[in-house]
Amino acid sequence: MIAKINQLLQEVEALKAANAEELEALRIKYLSKKGAINELMTDFRNVAADQKKEVGMRLNELKNKAQEKIAALKEQFESQDSDCEDIDLTRSAYPIPLGTRHPLSIVKNEIIDIFGRLGFSIAEGPEIEDDWHVFSALNFPEDHPARDMQDTFFIESHPDILLRTHTSSVQSRVMEVSQPPIRIICPGRVYRNEAISYRAHCFFHQVEALYVDKNVSFTDLKQVLLLFAKEMFGADTKIRLRPSYFPFTEPSAEMDISCNICGGKGCPFCKHTGWVEILGCGMVDPNVLESNGIDSKVYSGYALGMGIERITNLKYQVKDLRMFSENDTRFLKEFEAAY
Ligand code: DAH
Repeated sequence: MIAKINQLLQEVEALKAANAEELEALRIKYLSKKGAINELMTDFRNVAADQKKEVGMRLNELKNKAQEKIAALKEQFESQDSDCEDIDLTRSAYPIPLGTRHPLSIVKNEIIDIFGRLGFSIAEGPEIEDDWHVFSALNFPEDHPARDMQDTFFIESHPDILLRTHTSSVQSRVMEVSQPPIRIICPGRVYRNEAISYRAHCFFHQVEALYVDKNVSFTDLKQVLLLFAKEMFGADTKIRLRPSYFPFTEPSAEMDISCNICGGKGCPFCKHTGWVEILGCGMVDPNVLESNGIDSKVYSGYALGMGIERITNLKYQVKDLRMFSENDTRFLKEFEAAY
């Protein structure tokens, strides 16, 4: 009997199956009720009492080995099956699926296009900036809270180097190397030390606009804002300006547009006020012109800045900011038709 067990053990160890049917045949041959191992179990009754212990152990070993081997072969087929699941070998290679433009890029391009038609050209600056271009040159007082570690990402080893918190930094980059007329639009990514949630992120996108020339007035600013709002949100859109404060503009204002979701009647999105805030703006503070080498007695200017996520939310009602950076293609594909 021991010889028979050893022979079966060798057989079991060498088992191979090319497909699930072959594997089932092996299972029947060795492990079914009428299989070879059960047959030995039946014969076990006739084994002499003094050999029972050893033969019993060997038989159990054989049974376990056989079960393990069959299970291992089965697993191999199953994992092969799941690997194949996604592959359709008959599928045509064409058309090749194309990516879609990101919603933030669609809206950014729309903003650039509107300002482009008004004569603004694109200017860009670095995302890793220094204190001067982000704060000092823009008239931020030494103790302004935006300079706080809690709002700004500083490079630890070098407190003068930081991730820009707004694209207004590009204003000073451009003014320090050029003289008016300056008419620029600056799109880009900005960073703030915020806890990530559905309505805040540690990075987002802004567009800054700056116009400096002789005799630029608040009226020019208002007219450009109205035109922008109508182009972006539709001809019926109304705007209103509320007095505000920014270190780099004086006077400063925030602009609301009539809520484009309810048409100004009031809805949960506009908190039933009929208005939603979309940007900050103002006349460039003479200190800023002077800090950047422009004569404030000869020139004046206006500036404005807006968040691209905010404008995109208004246009497409994206409820969770995090979706913009999760790269979920189901979300991104929704904007396929938008450009
Ligand atoms: N930099 C401001 C911010 O990040 C936005 C802003 C407000 C830009 C007023 C401007 C401006 O140019 O005039 O919140």
